[in-house]
Amino acid sequence: MFHMFVLFCLCWWSLTGVFGESMLVMEGYSVTLNTDVTEIREDDDILWKFGVDNSLLAEISREKQIFSTYDVPDGRFRDRLRLDHQTGSLTIKNITSEHAGFYQLDIIGVKWSSKTFSVSVYARLPVPNITRNCSSSSSSSSSSYCSLVCSVVNVGHVTLSWYKGNSLLSSISVSDLRISLSLPLEVEYQDKNTYSCVLNNSFTNQATHLDITQLCHTCADQGLHLFYIVLVSAAGSLLIVVSVVMCCICRKCRKRAQTQEEDRIDSALCKPKTEKTKPKIEAVYGNVPKKQ
Ligand SMILES: *[C@@H]1O[C@H](CO)[C@@H](O)[C@H](O)[C@H]1NC(C)=O
Ligand SMILES: *[C@@H]1O[C@H](CO)[C@@H](O)[C@H](O)[C@H]1NC(C)=O
Repeated sequence: MFHMFVLFCLCWWSLTGVFGESMLVMEGYSVTLNTDVTEIREDDDILWKFGVDNSLLAEISREKQIFSTYDVPDGRFRDRLRLDHQTGSLTIKNITSEHAGFYQLDIIGVKWSSKTFSVSVYARLPVPNITRNCSSSSSSSSSSYCSLVCSVVNVGHVTLSWYKGNSLLSSISVSDLRISLSLPLEVEYQDKNTYSCVLNNSFTNQATHLDITQLCHTCADQGLHLFYIVLVSAAGSLLIVVSVVMCCICRKCRKRAQTQEEDRIDSALCKPKTEKTKPKIEAVYGNVPKKQ
């Protein structure tokens, strides 16, 4: 009974083309669906169809001089399809997850044949980022340890792991959701082992190697930065205070100089007066002796 069922299934599958070609493509790449025909025959028509509703993507009929590519109503294949004139093979350029699915090839002529392609598209993985966690007070309560964090943002169906050489130290996985992941690691400053943080899914991986000497100094640098900021602002404040004081002194000086100047002007103005009055007085005096 079971054997009968398996046989039935196999027959059905081969008829419906479930055993067609499976193709796995990385996002952004091209994929070519081959007709396995070296030259299209004069009386053959070739049809390429996509998806569950069998939307017509391309049509070749040498007899009717048809050689065309089309698009589905939502326009997802726009400027992405190329038809090979000789073989009738279809290329999808710059593929995205929207182009994943079933493609069907029908060759209609003296002989009728059909072929199905199952195209899967996988996303490019981001490169994991290793940073020092300066806010972490080392759990080993020793200052000879450096706390690090490896992180990736917006990922799904992946595993993030720390490796020491080839041996796995720790890992964290995310299934269907697209989230951010981070994984901590503590290393000794003097550690000479090679560490790497690896992000992977079933198809591909991305790794970042840890540079302890470079990364484990950033907190100290931040402290130094803070020191410089404090120093610079202190110097700035001092400069402002000094300028204000100088300004006050200057204004006082100028005021004094001004009053002195005014005095001078006053005296300068007064002198001619006294000089002018002098002759009068002299004249008076002069007159007096004259009268005398
Ligand atoms: C590939 O497709 C993506 C998404 O549609 C687009 O942003 C990108 O510009 C395309 N790249 C090229 C080289 O056409
Ligand atoms: C840094 O370490 C602190 C204390 O251990 C922890 O609470 C925090 O989540 C860590 N930061 C990151 C980005 O992992």
